[in-house]
Amino acid sequence: MLDPLKRALKSVLETVRRRGSERRIRETGRHVTRAELARDLAALGIAPGDTVFLHSSLKSLGYVEGGAAAVIGALQDALGAQGTLLVPTYYLPAGTVRATCELEGYVFDPRVHGTNMGRLPETFLAGAATHRSVHPTHSVAAWGRHAAWLTEGHHHAPSIFGAGSPWQRFVELDGAKVLGLGISMGPVTFYHVLEDALGEAFPAAIWEQRTYRLPCRDRHGQSWDVPVRPFTAAATANRIDHPGRGDLRDYFQREFELAGLKTNGAVGAAQAWVIPGRAFFDHLERLAGQGITIYSSPEQLAARPPGRS
Ligand SMILES: CC(C)(COP(=O)(O)OP(=O)(O)OC[C@H]1O[C@@H](n2cnc3c(N)ncnc32)[C@H](O)[C@@H]1OP(=O)(O)O)[C@@H](O)C(=O)NCCC(=O)NCCS
Repeated sequence: MLDPLKRALKSVLETVRRRGSERRIRETGRHVTRAELARDLAALGIAPGDTVFLHSSLKSLGYVEGGAAAVIGALQDALGAQGTLLVPTYYLPAGTVRATCELEGYVFDPRVHGTNMGRLPETFLAGAATHRSVHPTHSVAAWGRHAAWLTEGHHHAPSIFGAGSPWQRFVELDGAKVLGLGISMGPVTFYHVLEDALGEAFPAAIWEQRTYRLPCRDRHGQSWDVPVRPFTAAATANRIDHPGRGDLRDYFQREFELAGLKTNGAVGAAQAWVIPGRAFFDHLERLAGQGITIYSSPEQLAARPPGRS
C-alpha cells in the first residue's frame, strides 16, 4: 500500500477509535465543567500569578464538558492574567530519546511537529500555547506572563534540562508549581532538573557516553544543532516511570507527603497533587545526598525509609 494511503487510513481509524472512547466516558463518567475544574484547582492551591508545569490524564477527570480545551481554560481561569502555564509537548518520533537520536533525516520544527504526550498537550499546542521551545525531543509549550522567557533559551542549553532550559528557569520563579492531574509521581519531568544541575556528581550513572547534536529549526526557519545525551537503557528500565517501579512511585509519594511538600486534592473526578518547584528541587537534592534518587534499588529504599531526616 502507498504510504499516503496508509497514513490516511490510520488517521480515519484513530478518529473512529477516539470517538468511541469519548462516547464511553460521556456515558459512564461523572460530568464536570470548566467552572467546577477552576474551583477545584483553586482549592488545591493553584493561585493567580502562579507558574504551573502540568502533567495530566484527561480521562481521569471524568467527562469534561468541552474536552481538553475546557481543562486548559480552567487552568487559565485559576492562574489569571498574570499566571503562566507550561505543558510538556515533547515529540519523540522514534518512541524513545535514544531511538530519536538515531533517526535518519529527522529535523525538529516547532511549527510542524506535534506531541506524543497526550490529549491535553495536543490541544494546548493547537490553541492556547503562545510559545514553544526549540528542542528535538523535549520541546515545551507555554502560555502567560513568563511564556517567552521560559521557552526561548532551550536550544542553547547544554543539556535537555540544563542551564537555560525551561525547567531551570521555572525553578527560579516564585509561585512555580508542578501539578499532576490524575497521574502518579511517575511521569514527572522535573526530577531531571537535579540530574543536569549536578552533572557527574549525581549519585547514579544514568547517561550514555555520547552526546548527539540533532538539527532543529526555529519559528523563523533558522537552523540549530541541539545537544541531546540519552539515558542508558539500564537507567530507564529502573526509573520511577517504569511500569515495574511502583515501589519508587509509592516511596516518593510518601516521602513528599511526610515532608509536607505534596498537597493532594480532587480536581473533577481525578486525584490531583501539587508540589512547589523550589522546594521540590531542594528536597530532591537532600534525598540525593542520602543516596535516594528516582533510580534507587529496592534495597536502597529499604535502607532509608520515607520521612527519615
Ligand atoms: C499516558 C497518559 C497521557 C494517558 O492518560 P489518558 O487520560 O489515558 O490520555 P489523554 O490524557 O491523552 O486523554 C485521552 C483520553 O481522554 C478521554 N476523553 C476524550 N474526551 C474526553 C472528555 N471530554 N473528557 C474526559 N475524557 C475524555 C478519551 O478516553 C481519551 O482516551 P483515548 O486516547 O483512548 O481516546 C497519562 O497517563 C500520562 O502519563 N500523563 C503524563 C504525560 C506526561 O506529561 N509525560 C511527560 C513526563 S515523562
